[in-house]
Amino acid sequence: MAECFQTETENKKRFTIPLKQIPRFSVNDSQANALINSREPVIITDTHLVSSACNWDLDYLSRHIGDGLFTVYRSKSHKFKYYSDKKSLAIKEFTPPTSQEEMPFQEFVNLIKSHPKSSSERIYLQQALNNSVGPKIVEQFVNFNWSYVTGLQRSNNWGPLTSNLLLVGMPGNVTPVHYDEQENMFAQIRGSKRLVLFNPDQFENLYPYPVHHPHDRQSQVDLDNPDLNRFPNVTRLCGYEGVVGPGEVIYIPMYWWHQVESMTDSEENISVNFWYMAGNNEKIEYPLSAQQKVSMTRNIEKMILQALNDADEVAPFMRMMVLGRYT
Ligand code: FUM
Ligand code: FE
Repeated sequence: MAECFQTETENKKRFTIPLKQIPRFSVNDSQANALINSREPVIITDTHLVSSACNWDLDYLSRHIGDGLFTVYRSKSHKFKYYSDKKSLAIKEFTPPTSQEEMPFQEFVNLIKSHPKSSSERIYLQQALNNSVGPKIVEQFVNFNWSYVTGLQRSNNWGPLTSNLLLVGMPGNVTPVHYDEQENMFAQIRGSKRLVLFNPDQFENLYPYPVHHPHDRQSQVDLDNPDLNRFPNVTRLCGYEGVVGPGEVIYIPMYWWHQVESMTDSEENISVNFWYMAGNNEKIEYPLSAQQKVSMTRNIEKMILQALNDADEVAPFMRMMVLGRYT
């Protein structure tokens, strides 16, 4: 078990979050598919999922990706915590932790190349691949190993592919711990990423924001410096870690918490993810899985919020239902 996230709290007490290694297998090893079938994370070393894109770097992409616009996030620190624009409109006191703008790829490259090493501001391009890309990129996209992912989609009853997000970032960029509501086959092209994952059964230890909050699906906990007074269950956390390098793929199951850190082994870090919707023919078996409980929690929260039509009424309502009755 690796020692990780040596964490220093205000009172200088240190603790470590125990992390096991995410298993790594060849695509030819049946254990890789077995883990995916049981919705557990695995790094697969040789899927050739995005081999056709192995020559992608900043220069190649700026020559061939076309003149469409790409979403670029700016952060004053190394952290890029996602927030929903739509949900932020409903919360007066919300200050977005990053700003975003649309720009041609070439402009993003110029920003990266002229970025002063001393600056703490960072940028991160995150854009779904679309039909504005040039013919060379289209050809490489068509030559992704679609038969592999489509086979997984079929055998695991995943829903349709929703998007292929292209992520181009700087070494040291961090996407803080959150979960997604989709199955993710995450393919690494250039540089390496370290991923820290937690099972959905760690919900209470990661204190997700309420569903109406702009940071819905994100943890309120800063894993690098957790506030143990507010989030005492953090000391109970245990998770997984692994590094994906160029040509490798990690399966991040739906509802699994993940923090993603671009490592410093390359000037540029490039990944493409394959997001699939949840299948709709899931059998209900008891006891319910942690994934099913997270999904149920979200639906109940949304339903109560919708019925009350006021986010401030949700907590008193839930307390009234539970305290002194179920406690
Ligand atoms: O930064 C990242 O690569 C994040 C990926 C994800 O959250 O899926
Ligand atoms: Fe994610």
